[in-house]
Amino acid sequence: MTPSTELQRPSIKTALPGPKSLEIINADHQYVTPSYPRPDYKLVADHAKGVWITDPDGNVFLDCNAGVAVCSTGHCHPEVVAAIQQQVSELIHLCGTDFYYRHMPELGKKLNEIVPIDGPTKTHFANSGAEAIETALKLAMYHTKRQKFISFFGSFHGRTLGALALTSSKRAQRLGFARQVLDVVHVPYPNCFRCPFNKGKCDDGACCMGTTDWIEKTLFNTTTPPEEVAGIVLEVVQGEGGYVPAPTEVVKALRRICDEHGIMLIVDEVQSGMGRTGKMFALDHHEGVKADIVCMAKGLGSGMPIGACTARADIMDWHKGAHASTFGGNPVALTAALKTIELLQGGLVDNSRDTGAYLEAGLNKLKEKYDCIADVRGFGMMLGVEFVKPSTNGAVGEPDPELRDRIEMACFNKGLIILGCGSNSIRWSPPLILAKENVDVALEIFDEAIAESI
Ligand SMILES: Cc1ncc(COP(=O)(O)O)c(C=O)c1O
Repeated sequence: MTPSTELQRPSIKTALPGPKSLEIINADHQYVTPSYPRPDYKLVADHAKGVWITDPDGNVFLDCNAGVAVCSTGHCHPEVVAAIQQQVSELIHLCGTDFYYRHMPELGKKLNEIVPIDGPTKTHFANSGAEAIETALKLAMYHTKRQKFISFFGSFHGRTLGALALTSSKRAQRLGFARQVLDVVHVPYPNCFRCPFNKGKCDDGACCMGTTDWIEKTLFNTTTPPEEVAGIVLEVVQGEGGYVPAPTEVVKALRRICDEHGIMLIVDEVQSGMGRTGKMFALDHHEGVKADIVCMAKGLGSGMPIGACTARADIMDWHKGAHASTFGGNPVALTAALKTIELLQGGLVDNSRDTGAYLEAGLNKLKEKYDCIADVRGFGMMLGVEFVKPSTNGAVGEPDPELRDRIEMACFNKGLIILGCGSNSIRWSPPLILAKENVDVALEIFDEAIAESI
């Protein structure tokens, strides 16, 4: 593992955003779509290295977001940069949908070794998470000859129309669109902290069986007969929905339901995959449970645009021409992914687990200190912190999104980049090279930001 960087602190020299950053923000407002869901604070990046981002005004930020869980090996990891540079000088593009090059089978073979799927696999390459999901949906429909899907409230699977039909983490994502291009039914996500079945807070996951009971006893007997369901699409740790992990009992029950009815278990590891949870995939935390189809993107290419949908080889049985993409599986992006996986296996997954546990312990200390922190959850370097209005009767407090936003802003002003998720949580999704020294600095800033925001 390459050491993340020497011990350093953020350095904020101007009011934020500084004058050069403001110029870019103003130009962006004039020429760029207003649909991007940017947070209240305005970070403009000029260059970045390891866990440090420098803005055009020379301010240096400690990055605990990694470009929304993408820069898994840190910004511009020297080995990733070298591999990309070499590849760019040899072959930038040829269109793998029509021609051949070594990178596709090489990465397909690598993914075959690591994805949580039983038996041999095949991979379709795309450019993004949403595209990987579109692939999975089409494949499940094709293979099962069925049309319906089951998705979860709070889920995020992307914004293209097929993926959007599954997505349900925020109102703004669907508002104004004919999103039911697919026949999707949403069910409550098994959230042990905020039980969707009003059973209170639990720790063992047993009462979350409400989700699978709902599927089997209500849906299957009414609107959604199992023999019409092509796939259940699951985030093992819900990402945009608030960094909420599903309990093992439910993940196992979903596998059983899929097995009993010939339904594809499609596991969306776009955010939770590639070492983020301290194991290569979030599903690896649930021993013995395997997916039929796994979607990846984000951390797979260390920042190069890539999406991948890997399925059991016998499931990926569609005809020539059924699905393809001009840029998907571009040799430069594939090279970055091969190098990324090498680095993940060479120590970064272990660091995600160990330094992630250190970060989690620090966040739990802050939870003891502040009543407004109701929950710290997740695995490895995929950790969520939920903010509430403290309750007086021992019940779980009401969500406090405004406090969360104030804390996010205060962190930014002190040079720490974190980002919200769900309505009232903050996600920690740092580059997987984060060192314990970085954690100490980040927690100190987070602590100060909470203290001045409550
Ligand atoms: C779990 C999950 N699936 C799919 C997507 C969509 O990925 P993309 O933005 O690359 O289309 C995201 C993006 O945040 C995600 O978190």
